[in-house]
Amino acid sequence: MEKTFAIIKPDAVERNITGKIIDRIEAAGFRICGIKKLFLAKAEAEGFYYVHKERPFFNDLCTFMSRSPVVVMVLEQENAIVKWRELMGATNPANAEAGTIRKEFGVSIEENTVHGSDSPESAAFEIPYFFSQLELV
Ligand code: CMP
Repeated sequence: MEKTFAIIKPDAVERNITGKIIDRIEAAGFRICGIKKLFLAKAEAEGFYYVHKERPFFNDLCTFMSRSPVVVMVLEQENAIVKWRELMGATNPANAEAGTIRKEFGVSIEENTVHGSDSPESAAFEIPYFFSQLELV
């Protein structure tokens, strides 16, 4: 069993579609090991996205991610990292395949509704950024 990290981003929480997204996650066979709603400070968003700190979109991304609450989750199933990325769809909703969460709900390349770890190394950083071992059940 593999664990991955997921965020339901501010654009989705603001539109009250958290439940619809969680429904899609559970229907796809993921087990939710941990879940919580947080209002990130901008510095917390910057720490989470530090790998993108040189990108031109970094400041806007961190402003967006600290605009209103997010829901963070740890998801588990076999090949969870790849399967969650498939269910999310491409980063830019305009390029995402039909049936993916970003195609259905994404607003723009920045406000793309959900985040997922892109590798085991990313998951190993992202999961403990938000969850202690005791919070994963
Ligand atoms: P995410 O999967 O959370 O990883 C980094 C985020 O940066 C990405 O989703 C988008 O929200 C955002 N992002 C990536 N590329 C761009 C871009 N070209 N312009 C604006 N935002 C971007």
